[in-house]
Amino acid sequence: MVEIKTPGEIQAMREAGRIVAQALTHVAKHATTGTPVTELDDIAATVIAEAGATPAFLDYHPPFAPTPYPAVICVSINDAIVHGIPGRHRIRDGDLVSVDCGAYLDGWAGDSAISFTIGTPDPHDQALIHATEQALAAGIAAATPGNRIGDIGHAIATIATAGGYGVPTDFGGHGIGRRMHEDPHVPNRGRPGRGLTLRPGLTLAIEPMFIAGGDDHYRTAPDGWTLHSRDGSRAAHSEHTIAITDDGPLILTLP
Ligand code: MF3
Ligand code: CO
Repeated sequence: MVEIKTPGEIQAMREAGRIVAQALTHVAKHATTGTPVTELDDIAATVIAEAGATPAFLDYHPPFAPTPYPAVICVSINDAIVHGIPGRHRIRDGDLVSVDCGAYLDGWAGDSAISFTIGTPDPHDQALIHATEQALAAGIAAATPGNRIGDIGHAIATIATAGGYGVPTDFGGHGIGRRMHEDPHVPNRGRPGRGLTLRPGLTLAIEPMFIAGGDDHYRTAPDGWTLHSRDGSRAAHSEHTIAITDDGPLILTLP
C-alpha cells in the first residue's frame, strides 16, 4: 500500500534526512587511504546517535538477505555495487567507494547514498560516478505530480544507456516513510507513462546504481549481502529520499 504523507510529516522526514546527509558528509570527509572501513561505520553511528536518531540498517532483515544487516552503513568498494558490509579491511588509493546510510528520527526514515574516489581518481570512475549523480538528478526531476513511476526509471536508464553502463536487475528505489522500504518499488529502468501515478505526499528513495562494464548482471558474495558486478567492473550508487509536492520534487536528504 502506498502511504501519502502530510506536509508536516514531510517536514519530519526532512529532519531524519538531514541527519543521514550529515553522517554521509562526515564519512566522506574521513575516508582516505588506509582508513579501516569499520572506522567509517563508527563515524556514522556516532553522528546518528548524537542527533538522537537510530540507524535504519542495523539489524534490518529483508527477505533477500540470509541474516540481519550487521552494520550502520553499507560500504561498497570497486566492483561491489551495493550492500557491502564494513569489515576490517582498509580503503586503498584509487578505490571507488559507495556509502549508503539510513536513519530513523521520531519514527521517520531517511535513506541516502553517495559515491566518491580515494586519492588519485581514475577518470573512468569519475565519469561513472558523475553518471549516477546525473541519473539521480534526472530521476528526481521526473518525480512531479501527474508523472508515473515509469518516467523515473526511464530518465535513469536513458543516462545509463548514453554512458554504456549496466543497471543491475531486481534492485532499485522504493517508497519510504515510517518504514525504510515501503511501496512502491521504483525500478531503475522504466517505460514512460507507465506505472503508478505520482502525487503530492508520495515519498520515495530514488537510487540509480550503474555498472561500468555495461552488463546488468550481479552476483551475491558469500556474506549473502554484498552485490558485485558479474563482469568484475566497477559500480557506483547515488541515492536521495525525496517528496513529491505541488511545487515539484523536494530532496529530503540534504545537510
Ligand atoms: N538504500 C539501500 C536499499 O534501499 C539500503 C539497504 S539497507 C540494508 O536497498 F540494511 F539492507 F543494507
Ligand atoms: Co534505499
